[in-house]
Amino acid sequence: MTLNFVRIAYAYDRTRYHPPEVSGKIATAIVAPVEERFSDPVFLELGVGTGRVGVPIVARGYRFVGVDVSPSMLEVMRYKIAGVGRKVKLVEADARELPFERGSFHAVIGVHIWHLFDDWQRALLEAFRVLTPGGFLFEGWDMTAAENEDWRIQEKWREFLGEEGYELKRGRHQQRLAEVRKALEQLGLNPVEEVVAEWVEERTPRQSLEILSERLYSFTWGIPEDIFKSSLEKLWEWARDTYSDLDQAHAIPWRFVLRSTRLPE
Ligand SMILES: C[S@@+](CC[C@H](N)C(=O)[O-])C[C@H]1O[C@@H](n2cnc3c(N)ncnc32)[C@H](O)[C@@H]1O
Repeated sequence: MTLNFVRIAYAYDRTRYHPPEVSGKIATAIVAPVEERFSDPVFLELGVGTGRVGVPIVARGYRFVGVDVSPSMLEVMRYKIAGVGRKVKLVEADARELPFERGSFHAVIGVHIWHLFDDWQRALLEAFRVLTPGGFLFEGWDMTAAENEDWRIQEKWREFLGEEGYELKRGRHQQRLAEVRKALEQLGLNPVEEVVAEWVEERTPRQSLEILSERLYSFTWGIPEDIFKSSLEKLWEWARDTYSDLDQAHAIPWRFVLRSTRLPE
């Protein structure tokens, strides 16, 4: 997994782009409740990546620590915050073994990270350990709000992969989020989910195909090279027959969901 993030660091934001107003809404949804309860709060983000969620918080002047196992992803974030990163620390570390003292943070953030390791419980326990009493755990994720052409292309690819004997498994992230929710509830906590931003991305069929061809999504990483290559050839051919113009953009409606859980004081 880490090696793959080294490879895709500079391409990552292309697959999960947030327009500026969306970044702003997400940052507000995270910082507002924390600010209400703590003065000069300090935020920790697990698997901070290229700083899609972290950079707008940093830009507002908050104390912020980001951890990630991929030095390349951290390097992209470092580049983005050059000049505004006075109160920021970026640390190469594993979310399952955090190099911080108990109770060091007022909020811990994790976006698109739980599905990347099976022993996610360790990271959850670590998050609780480093949170101060009354602190917040924020989990966030992007999801498409309706069926769209990008989805249709991926479904067609799934069909071609199936013909070659490979079952493309999707939905691991949503499954994991449900598992984490259950764990939080079993601990007597009260996770609250809210759609904090909605937007529409314009993406062409060519872009959808290129993102798949470059194996930018983690669900593509396990496909054997020969099957990957031949199924994609079929997919490109199908797309050329299906779309009169591969560069004609289609709308993809997106939502960002934030799940907030507050620890007891
Ligand atoms: C899908 S990206 C999400 C990045 C960022 N949170 C976002 O939403 O844009 C997952 C990130 O988690 C990092 N990661 C994977 N396993 C990790 C671990 N055990 N501890 C810390 N970071 C990890 C990866 O290197 C990558 O940067």
